[in-house]
Amino acid sequence: MNDSEIFIVGANGQLGTALRAQYPGSQFADIGELDITKADSVSGFDWSGIKYVLNAAAFTNVDGAETPEGRVASWKVNASAVANLARVCLEHDMTLLHISSDYVFDGTVQPHTEDEPFSPLSVYGQSKAAGDLVAALAPKHYILRATWVIGEGKNFVRTMLDLAGRGISPTVVGDQIGRLTFTSELVRIIDHLLTSDAKYGTYNATNSGQPASWADITRQIFTLGGFPDLTVTDTTTAEYFAGKEGIAPRPLGSIMSLDKLATTGFQSRDWQDDLKEYIKKEQA
Ligand SMILES: NC(=O)c1ccc[n+]([C@@H]2O[C@H](COP(=O)([O-])OP(=O)(O)OC[C@H]3O[C@@H](n4cnc5c(N)ncnc54)[C@H](OP(=O)(O)O)[C@@H]3O)[C@@H](O)[C@H]2O)c1
Repeated sequence: MNDSEIFIVGANGQLGTALRAQYPGSQFADIGELDITKADSVSGFDWSGIKYVLNAAAFTNVDGAETPEGRVASWKVNASAVANLARVCLEHDMTLLHISSDYVFDGTVQPHTEDEPFSPLSVYGQSKAAGDLVAALAPKHYILRATWVIGEGKNFVRTMLDLAGRGISPTVVGDQIGRLTFTSELVRIIDHLLTSDAKYGTYNATNSGQPASWADITRQIFTLGGFPDLTVTDTTTAEYFAGKEGIAPRPLGSIMSLDKLATTGFQSRDWQDDLKEYIKKEQA
């Protein structure tokens, strides 16, 4: 695989940024250069020489998607735009690599396997589920289901380090259980799938390791970050959001089975190892 055969969509997001670093010779665009919600722009784009379309674009504001405008935007980017990409991949014999989410499930079945039926709770989850359905119409497709993505951008680890830096001992949700997915791990998975002869289809794609709650992860962040005096108080998702308007329902169980990914020969990294490295870089 040659970098110049790769096209990254949504190149300025957390994953898009990591993909550009991995494939410096790739072509890329964010919404300013190519708005994937515009069917004509996508079909009229010059795709010559491209073999792999990596879709890192998404509407990721989970609560924002519950508003009237957000609902439209979420469906446009997470579903209709994916159909535009799937169509162009079919027409030009390109591989579509698309990123999905644990939010396509209600979180009651644990761990999630790739063939679990959809059961999204929120508008974001519904739009992502629709995106999975249309991405699968590209004959050559990989759909990767990530959870709790951490990379370059606004994310949970940065928010907690910021609170710690200001000496705040937070109350954090303790009943959502899952694992972090570092963009470095997601990029390793993407590179592995594209360069091995892994079968097309859907794969869960998170870091491995002991599943944990957001509160547990915060304790780990404070320990690794050198804030031993700060405490973390557990709360429930229901208590945390009580009385707040416009909050999207969240799945409580976000543990993804990594068995299918392992069958392709991929060796996952423990989220705690990647968290250690991430915090070291943040504090350098
Ligand atoms: N973040 C998580 O915790 C999480 C968890 C599970 C799965 N995922 C999935 O993982 C993938 C990557 O997430 P991320 O955290 O890297 O997202 P992100 O940081 O929000 O990046 C998404 C990017 O897509 C761009 N974009 C939005 N609309 C577009 C359009 N119409 N055309 C082209 N680009 C557009 C955004 O640009 P603007 O910023 O200008 O809007 C942004 O640069 C997504 O598919 C997401 O659903 C994320």
